[in-house]
Amino acid sequence: MTTRPDLDQIVQDIAGEMLRRPDRGDVARYIPELARVSPDQFGIAVIDADGAVSAAGDCDAPFSIQSVSKAFTLTLALGKVGDRLWKRVGREPSGSPFNSIVQLEREQGVPRNPFINAGAIAVTDVILSGHKPREALGEILRFMRFLADDDAISIDEAVAASEQRTGFRNAALANYMKSFGVIENPVEFTLGVYYHHCAIAMSCRQLAMAARFLAHSGVQPTTGRSVVPPERARRINALMLTCGHYDGSGDFAYRVGLPGKSGVGGGIVAVAPGKASIAVWSPGLDAAGNSHLGRLALEMLVKRTGWSIF
Ligand code: DON
Repeated sequence: MTTRPDLDQIVQDIAGEMLRRPDRGDVARYIPELARVSPDQFGIAVIDADGAVSAAGDCDAPFSIQSVSKAFTLTLALGKVGDRLWKRVGREPSGSPFNSIVQLEREQGVPRNPFINAGAIAVTDVILSGHKPREALGEILRFMRFLADDDAISIDEAVAASEQRTGFRNAALANYMKSFGVIENPVEFTLGVYYHHCAIAMSCRQLAMAARFLAHSGVQPTTGRSVVPPERARRINALMLTCGHYDGSGDFAYRVGLPGKSGVGGGIVAVAPGKASIAVWSPGLDAAGNSHLGRLALEMLVKRTGWSIF
């Protein structure tokens, strides 16, 4: 019989070590509101297959989920249009930074994958089609609240406004895609919804709750509620593994070996299939824009639990 890892002890040890470390990375400075967040924070939450939560550090502090939202908007868009989504966005790693524009010209405005900014903007456009921006955003927020089983989740309007004021790159990506017909709605509507779902504020505990269905073949383990069919959960996980950390995805797979999605707010959601959903947060980023301590924490977690999928 294999012994179950003592998750409470492990997350306490990880938080203790991460809060002590001097190397913390640097916060996202290109979004003014995120540049003000203190890098001296670290949180972790792990939810096992029985629904037991092990959490430590700043695990209940809400933070800007940023690109972590893209795992969930991808889920919603696939629910709406199924495989037709893949006409608008690819499924290959980009090997480029998250806000890069270069591949769009060579590839007729079709972004490499749903997690780079261009791809996520195209996915948001799919969710928006047929709705007003406010309705599309409401749908995304309701989905997050349903998944996390928590109605207190909200959008940080200051972060959304901060990005809306300074998001010239995203505006360039969206306009460029629009010129190829990949974006259907008015660019300012699509970008407005995109900035607002990036600005959803959640804690590690809430994010780990929200990701449970990805760890358990599309089903929320304690309620038995099906969110997506098993093959869809498997495919979303495959995309998180290959593209979830942008041009740091290979290194993340090498070091951690779990499907994961990062955001420039410093959050990472990861799943150990069949075992647990995990969220870590520390605002300091590495050169690829992924949480520095978040990645180290996940590395420590898989070492202690043996949860790497490899
Ligand atoms: O569009 C942006 O640049 C941000 N709202 C999201 C980027 C992001 O989180 C990349 N993740 N590491």
